[in-house]
Amino acid sequence: MQSLLLDFLKVTESAAIAALPWVGSGNKIAADDAATSAMRDQLNEMNMHGTIVMGEGEIDEAPMLYIGENLGKGGETEVDIAVDPIEGTTPTVNGQDNAITVIAAAPKGTLLHAPDMYMEKIAVGPKAKGEIDIEAPLLENIKAVAKATGKDITELNVLIQDRPRHKEYIDTIRKSGAKAHLFNDGDVIYATATCIENKNIDMFLGVGGAPEGVLGAVAVKSLGGEMQARLLPRNEEEVNRCKEMGLADPRGVLTHNQLVDSEDCIFAATGITDNLLLNGIKMNNGDCTTHSILINGKDKQLRYIESQYNTKQAI
Ligand code: FBP
Repeated sequence: MQSLLLDFLKVTESAAIAALPWVGSGNKIAADDAATSAMRDQLNEMNMHGTIVMGEGEIDEAPMLYIGENLGKGGETEVDIAVDPIEGTTPTVNGQDNAITVIAAAPKGTLLHAPDMYMEKIAVGPKAKGEIDIEAPLLENIKAVAKATGKDITELNVLIQDRPRHKEYIDTIRKSGAKAHLFNDGDVIYATATCIENKNIDMFLGVGGAPEGVLGAVAVKSLGGEMQARLLPRNEEEVNRCKEMGLADPRGVLTHNQLVDSEDCIFAATGITDNLLLNGIKMNNGDCTTHSILINGKDKQLRYIESQYNTKQAI
């Protein structure tokens, strides 16, 4: 896995550069196509047997980076891959903050393999690892995190996506005295930020996309935190799709190890537009500067990487 680190960085850098012309364009389909095809081209250049386990949908709905697609030139390394070529399609095409390209990888058989549907998630940083329980009432989790972090409840910062479905959670957080900070899009970055001490984020929770859940879980695990989740199939058809992908209990709790069952994992994200952890791409006379995070789970190392590209040259 480790020999592929920089290759995965190049994958997200190239997807972000491909998305750049579509920032502010209003055209979600073109933006997604550009990032997805750049990501796929780069993945196909890599020396690995890669399989998409969380991607752009299933084969009948996504022509590229669909769940089950095999990628790479071959070689000895067999890799499970989760992708979101644009995490934050709406902010990308509206020219707003919080859009990234993101990928995670781990040895074959170690990333959750599930259909693209909603997932309930809770994540905390290293201090509160082992103290959360997605099945417990939210108030109990808030108290447990306060105790584990040595903070008063009123000092806790909880990040949650600004959606009507989260109203009850937001009310509970605020009634407890903790602070609920709302964001519009891009939950991978906010889950990851729980593990970055100087961001002062104590908990991330809410219902969002399942691919984003697995991507966030790789970052959180690699940085010593914990995520738990639960898929939310809406009907029997979705339950059966989960079962066909090997999930015996599609509505059951997914522990962190069921989301990602290896320390030897890689997470790479490149900013398209500015966000909490990264600047977006900056252009200057045909050159562009990309800003990325590269996380190596094996040595629990987070790197911030700035790269220069001439956009006229292919990456
Ligand atoms: P995409 O841009 O990849 O569609 O996702 C953006 C996002 O905000 C995710 O971070 C989040 O998990 C999901 O959308 C939530 O879905 P919805 O917008 O339907 O509430």
